[in-house]
Amino acid sequence: MEPNNIKIAPSILSADFAKLGEEIAAITKDGADYVHIDVMDGHFVPNLTIGPCVIQSLRKHSSLPFDVHLMISNPELYIEDYAKAGADIITVHAEAVTHLDRVIHAIKDAGCKAGVSLVPSTAPDVLDYVIDQLDLVLVMSVNPGFGGQSFIGKSVEKIRELRYMIDETEKDIDLEVDGGVVVDNVEYIIEAGANVLVAGSAVFKDGPSGYAANIKALRTGKPLA
Ligand code: DX5
Ligand code: ZN
Repeated sequence: MEPNNIKIAPSILSADFAKLGEEIAAITKDGADYVHIDVMDGHFVPNLTIGPCVIQSLRKHSSLPFDVHLMISNPELYIEDYAKAGADIITVHAEAVTHLDRVIHAIKDAGCKAGVSLVPSTAPDVLDYVIDQLDLVLVMSVNPGFGGQSFIGKSVEKIRELRYMIDETEKDIDLEVDGGVVVDNVEYIIEAGANVLVAGSAVFKDGPSGYAANIKALRTGKPLA
């Protein structure tokens, strides 16, 4: 796959939360493709982050698509709220939803692109009967809840399997990978078939002066000389 087809979605979980507007403006200027926003409820995952009002306040700081990753229980209750706040893509967890087909339709009816995410222990076949309705599949390559964890190697197998399933649909569906993505493993992840890379610490680690170089390095899978 050509490096230029790869989209980079910095996860603002690793940004400076006291300056989120500036941080989002900076990654927008520095070459990001999506803004990845991790919403956690302290229930589905053992951490709490932000909700719709913060997302609404951030909306004016970037023209990039807001890629909203809902790590919350009962996401079906909040789809409208996130759509109104300015989400472009809303991703729910298969493990948090009983009626996945219904939630996917609710996301689309709210005017957003629909994504479904799988935690590391979930097999791809839960998507067998819905994958052709999706705009994005998100493979969690760490157990969700925190930034800065190590990539779980078995995820590569799952990415490959999902790439096959997506190609079978003959539809344009993003295959996004989230958790522990660093320059050193990008090559394997892309080779397995992913086209969107979420990265928190690997983008934000050096502060604003490093964002452009870090995003570029992730896109090519090579550290800049
Ligand atoms: C984890 C989040 C990720 C995380 C990625 O639950 O969904 O988006 O912030 O962070 P890194 O890239 O540091 O693993
Ligand atoms: Zn995420």
